[in-house]
Amino acid sequence: MRLILLGPPGAGKGTQASRLVAKYGIVQLSTGDMLRAAVKAGTEVGLKAKAVMDAGQLVSDDIVIGVVADRIVEADCAKGFILDGFPRTVPQAEALTSMLRSKGMKLDAVIELKVDEDALVRRMESRVAETQAAGGQVRADDNPESFKKRLTEYREKTAPLSNYYAGTGELRTVDGMLPIDQVSVEIATILGA
Ligand code: AP5
Repeated sequence: MRLILLGPPGAGKGTQASRLVAKYGIVQLSTGDMLRAAVKAGTEVGLKAKAVMDAGQLVSDDIVIGVVADRIVEADCAKGFILDGFPRTVPQAEALTSMLRSKGMKLDAVIELKVDEDALVRRMESRVAETQAAGGQVRADDNPESFKKRLTEYREKTAPLSNYYAGTGELRTVDGMLPIDQVSVEIATILGA
């Protein structure tokens, strides 16, 4: 199974991707996690990405497309994968389409989680509070200024992907305002399992 989870920051992509990993035994490819790992490891990609990510902006298409292209050919992706946070721009979606076509692969679904902006801000604030309470490290982009920029980037660059995938007939929409368990049920219904 090959899926894309689309949605604004805080929509629940990571939450639902983890559940799908447990259910279907396929891998979660979160470009955000991959980039954060690259930043932590101080790789060339990480050095280029850090300031851009901290400011809530999107990392360049070339970098992210390269990261995904290298990752989806690894052995653990043979059974399928969930793309969480990729694609995020129309050029990324076009690159993915040609990547998959060249490998004879098809997507099973593109699932968009729809959540009101006010709720997204509250979720980010709760995540910060919970992380702090647990003594963890708050994400450098989970602050009001960067989050506002992340929402703007989403509106301007990622929201057009709904039209892109509506055009390919692969788009399915889920009400991401529902409780987490209910969102999982809606996704399972779409996937027919
Ligand atoms: P990334 O790591 O992808 O972050 P994001 O898209 O901003 O999303 P989040 O991880 O904040 O939210 P989520 O949708 O996964 O929600 P979650 O499940 O955590 O990207 C970070 C940065 O990396 C980007 O800004 C960019 O710089 C760079 N980047 C990454 N990919 C890129 C790309 N393709 N191109 C260019 N740059 C890229 O849930 C959030 C919270 O809400 C949690 O606390 C959760 O418990 C709660 N929650 C979840 N679902 C529900 C629910 N239904 N009801 C109530 N609470 C809920």
